[in-house]
Amino acid sequence: MAGRIPQHFIDDLLARINIIDVLDGRVQKLKRTGKNYSGLCPFHKEKTPSFTANQEKQFYYCFGCGAGGNALGFLMDYENLNFPEAVEELAKTAGMDVPRDDSPEQREKDQQLKQLYDLLEAAAQFYEEQLRHNHNRSEAIDYLKSRGLSGQAAKAFSIGYAPSGWDNLLTKLGSDESQIKLLETAGLLIHNEERDSRYDRFRNRIMFPIRDQRGRTIAFGGRVLGDDKPKYLNSPETPTFHKSRELYGLYEARKHSSKLEKLIIVEGYMDVVGLAQYGIHYAVATLGTATTAQHLERLFKIVPEIIFCFDGDNAGREAAMRALKTALPVIEDGKEARFLFLPEGEDPDSLVRQEGTESFSDRLNNAQPLSEFFFKSYAENSDLESMDGRARFSTEVLPAINSMRPSLLQQMMLDRICELTHLSLEQIQTTVNFHQSVQPPAAPEPAFNENTQHSPGYDNHYQDDYYPFSQDETDSYTLYDETPAPHKPSINSFTPRATNLNRKPHNTELSFAQKLIALLLHYPKLAAEYTLPDELQIIEEQDIKILTQLVHYYNKHPDSSLGQLVVDWREDEALANTIVQLYEISTSLEIRSEADARIYLKDAQHGLELKALEIEISQLQKKAQLNSDDKIKLVQKIQKLNQLKSINRQ
Ligand code: UTP
Ligand code: MN
Repeated sequence: MAGRIPQHFIDDLLARINIIDVLDGRVQKLKRTGKNYSGLCPFHKEKTPSFTANQEKQFYYCFGCGAGGNALGFLMDYENLNFPEAVEELAKTAGMDVPRDDSPEQREKDQQLKQLYDLLEAAAQFYEEQLRHNHNRSEAIDYLKSRGLSGQAAKAFSIGYAPSGWDNLLTKLGSDESQIKLLETAGLLIHNEERDSRYDRFRNRIMFPIRDQRGRTIAFGGRVLGDDKPKYLNSPETPTFHKSRELYGLYEARKHSSKLEKLIIVEGYMDVVGLAQYGIHYAVATLGTATTAQHLERLFKIVPEIIFCFDGDNAGREAAMRALKTALPVIEDGKEARFLFLPEGEDPDSLVRQEGTESFSDRLNNAQPLSEFFFKSYAENSDLESMDGRARFSTEVLPAINSMRPSLLQQMMLDRICELTHLSLEQIQTTVNFHQSVQPPAAPEPAFNENTQHSPGYDNHYQDDYYPFSQDETDSYTLYDETPAPHKPSINSFTPRATNLNRKPHNTELSFAQKLIALLLHYPKLAAEYTLPDELQIIEEQDIKILTQLVHYYNKHPDSSLGQLVVDWREDEALANTIVQLYEISTSLEIRSEADARIYLKDAQHGLELKALEIEISQLQKKAQLNSDDKIKLVQKIQKLNQLKSINRQ
């Protein structure tokens, strides 16, 4: 693949294909419902369809998780492709060839990338070859043996050896000036500016090639054979290597099994390799950086469960806290993160060798759920007996929980706070507000607000400069313009949620109108049977307007699903603005069955009617002059009010 894809081609392609064909086979239970299609959303776990697609608009939307976009966006997310890959894929199904922008600059960039990949591959082969044939190989082999590494494991990860000497790779691959330049760009050579000379970056080290998801070698990690420092040397950021995105071992894990159920995040290269040797083929490691939201987002597209694995020491505990804060905004229903702490002084590699696969697997199975670790670590330092302690606890915990996406887990955690503090959410909110008003406006916890790209502090426990975060990250470029999937709420652009619970109404905080809205969203069928009493119009609330529109809409389209509604409402500017509110309201009410829904419906309608009557009566009473009609009306209304109230008491 070379060159940038011209926009007109993308437009043509999208016009040519049918999104329904793309969804077919990828979305379970996809079927036509009226004008639209509905099915089970592939991006979150669900039992009843909230995924809809509209053929006319060539657009899909999931009411459950908010994923939405066109066919390209769908393919990117579903198949885990970048933009040009998705275009290729789609073009293939449409029998079209993807034309490329052939501008000289673009061609040069693509050319260079291809050369870089080739060179990195050649380097990987060179290092592997050296482990087999270099006259000094025994030193490396003895070291690997002393660590218990099997030949099979070494092979699976293409582990190699960079011999001692300043120019082994340089001589082998730097055939001319341009190759030497490329080797430097690939991070394999170091340029000594003073002497204007270049030499091998990796010398006398065990070499771990780092591969991207497609198996291309994009960088290396190199370990010293003994106790020298720095222990590990990693490739710098290069056009092919972006640390904060890549995970060591991911390619190998996916290669080993196409149906991964979970992934473990460990700290080191040797942990990944050691675990694989012991049959645990689903470990990945970050590359000397803390886990980023990007990492998690990528992994959660592959598996529903991630287990973080940390050393049992203080550094491990701190790293776990950072991972927790990164994970909170990423978790959604159907996804799970757990935490495993190893005994002090052990890492996964040493432990699995010591106690074997079964014991280690047991540990994995018993890893703490995120919520458990969360409350343990926050409650640990709080005195929940004293009012002050509970307040402090709430002030710390609430912003964290508010950074989460609306989900059952979030609800559960809110409930748990109430349990722990013996306070209602309203009381907690008041306490938090109070605390914030008496304290200087606290700087919000950085980890929830920053884009959690890198967490520099984490690297502090590696001393020296062996972990070079390149300064030139900004001018590194990627192969293509990676256009984000349209409409998809991207984790990369996460803005922190307001640390104010009021933003998201909780069950008990919903007004009757909001309750009705939520009910009808969950059970559109009820809407078709429901007529909104005219009297309610006297209540001048925004939610009543939304409710009216909703009932109106469902009366007109009795078969419409939630997803279809969103697709339709998006078209209308006034309605489009209410979608977010709809979403928030709908996720705030838990309804277990249709029978419950009917009871709620009656209850909410009753409440609204009462409210309407009260408003009407008070308006009448406020009138300076009541004519005889008004008087009759007033009496009737008061009678009706009393009647309704007495029904309420039964
Ligand atoms: P560890 O020191 O825990 O590595 O660092 P390890 O994998 O257990 O190493 P062994 O078992 O002694 O061989 C964990 C990870 O942190 C990064 C590397 O990615 C390493 O795998 N690191 C560590 C560095 O980048 N540089 C260092 O000097 C040390
Ligand atoms: Mn280790």
